Amino acid sequence: MNIPEVVRHEELKNWISEMADLVKPDQVVWCDGSDEEYDRLCGELEDAGTFIRLNPDLRPNSFLARSDPSDVARVEDRTYICSLNEQDAGPTNNWMNPREMKDILNGLFDGAMRGRTMYVIPFSMGPLGSPIAQIGVEVTDSPYVVVNMKMMTRMGNAVYDVLGTDGDFVPCMHTVGAPLEAGQEDVSWPCNPDVKYIVHFPEERSIWSYGSGYGGNALLGKKCLALRIASTMARDEGWLAEHMLIMGVTEPSGEKTYVAAAFPSACGKTNFAMIVPPKQFSEKGWKVTTVGDDIAWIKPGEDGKLYAINPEAGYFGVAPGTSYETNPSAMESIKANCIFTNVALTDEGDIWWEGMDGDPPAHAIDWRGNDWTPDSETPAAHPNARFTAPAAQNPVIDEEWDNPAGVPIKAFVFGGRRSGTVPLVYQAFNWAYGVYLAATMGSETTAAAFGQQGVVRRDPFAMLPFAGYHMADYFNHWLDFGRNINDPPRIFGVNWFRRDEDGKFVWPGFGENMRILEWIVNRSHVRVGAIESPIGWVPRYSDINWDGVDNFSKADFRGAMTIDRDDWEKELLQHEELFIRLYDRIPKEMLAIKDLTLSAMWRTPDNWEMTSDPT
Ligand code: OXD
Ligand code: MN
Repeated sequence: MNIPEVVRHEELKNWISEMADLVKPDQVVWCDGSDEEYDRLCGELEDAGTFIRLNPDLRPNSFLARSDPSDVARVEDRTYICSLNEQDAGPTNNWMNPREMKDILNGLFDGAMRGRTMYVIPFSMGPLGSPIAQIGVEVTDSPYVVVNMKMMTRMGNAVYDVLGTDGDFVPCMHTVGAPLEAGQEDVSWPCNPDVKYIVHFPEERSIWSYGSGYGGNALLGKKCLALRIASTMARDEGWLAEHMLIMGVTEPSGEKTYVAAAFPSACGKTNFAMIVPPKQFSEKGWKVTTVGDDIAWIKPGEDGKLYAINPEAGYFGVAPGTSYETNPSAMESIKANCIFTNVALTDEGDIWWEGMDGDPPAHAIDWRGNDWTPDSETPAAHPNARFTAPAAQNPVIDEEWDNPAGVPIKAFVFGGRRSGTVPLVYQAFNWAYGVYLAATMGSETTAAAFGQQGVVRRDPFAMLPFAGYHMADYFNHWLDFGRNINDPPRIFGVNWFRRDEDGKFVWPGFGENMRILEWIVNRSHVRVGAIESPIGWVPRYSDINWDGVDNFSKADFRGAMTIDRDDWEKELLQHEELFIRLYDRIPKEMLAIKDLTLSAMWRTPDNWEMTSDPT
């Protein structure tokens, strides 16, 4: 094996040679992260039929990939946290004894890269050399993974300089699990349709992924390292690894406030991260800029403030529903140099998906490679189709997004998709109430997510599929973390998705969310009023900036803000169900706050209806 000179880390070299002995590839390629390498691999992917080059006039330097129809999303039921102790994984994770799991994986990985190339990908999650960043090395037999990792992380030879001779790195083993026998022809999307394992060993801080070539199953820096493994590091080391976007909100005065927000999958997180303020706001000088759209790593600084980085360098966004109307900055970000997976191909050689601006094309090739017309009964793009885009192409990227020191966070926002019960916005009374708010967050499932449509799934901190340890310990870590900070960020709940009796959304959402964001920013600086409700502080009608709004009345606001006692009694009972599941480690604070909230609900008059404007 030809090891490049830049690699000076003996442990890494030994690990790579051990892994090569195990998976038995035809050759080993150490990726350098250069543009030449990217172009060469994209060319090879084209030759192999994995990539279709899009029309260079319409979508320069961009490609379409179609996955195997069985390999289109994260596989939560095949995802494991293999801590030494089963209790440490907790009831919300799949667990297997690490030794047993290693026997399985060693069997599966033995010879798994026969007939293929094994790529070694050095990458940094976070700006190179940032005190908040972490290094990983992914071994994979998928060139599709290599080119996606180039966009999604800081990848390449510079990582070896940071790593030196003895730096820490997270080893990430990946194979599509489809070895080639001598003379066997490859398919355009190799994967293992029958066997998949996404495995984390938290004590050892290592990741093994088998059988899938898609997204979060295969790009191991994202969900596997930056959330599951990083959350355990963060617990051990006193920081936070969160499923949060980070945005900068600049006011007309020029003051800028950074906000981090957690939303479960399929709640428009990327749209919120790139929110376009209404005209009345932008004209006055309001501006929102993106630091990150999916993950935040947050550490306390010497000055007692919390500093956050986006560990990623690109967006792996859900394509359907993205349009100039819903997210112009995302549309600008994907004009060139992108990879599209499972979207439709137009006759002009461009991409299309449901929800894109304008009329659907009269004819296209759908994500499975079949002819499609607007009369077809199946969607042209898979509901979980994705774009991979370099973050630097975002026209509203925050100027500090690449700052190794991170940005100071003033507010945390948590929001699920709830058709009822949860008001448009409320602020937790204090840190512990905020942890309660986040811990009990629920979201209704959509077609793109798992399970039945419209059922509330509890998704604490939007981390249900991503916490690398016992969820109740996770709540405890948050409680502890806040105790040690002088002036912790304020914590808010939002719900953009409430509906009326006719099933219509009561709040317009999108850019209008800026009005709520302004209140959040003002509250986080303790500048604007609110009134007390049983679940937290809520704005009065007069506390929100309605400049330029003529079709949202005071009564509409009441509808969006109602806190109904009966609904909340039911809601609190559901919180209790979650706590019962986590009974062995649930912090006492959670139970106490539930009881306090319930008694606050009971002690209100029978005909009581909580609105944010009792007048
Ligand atoms: C994602 C997710 O893909 O949260 O970001 O599922
Ligand atoms: Mn996500």
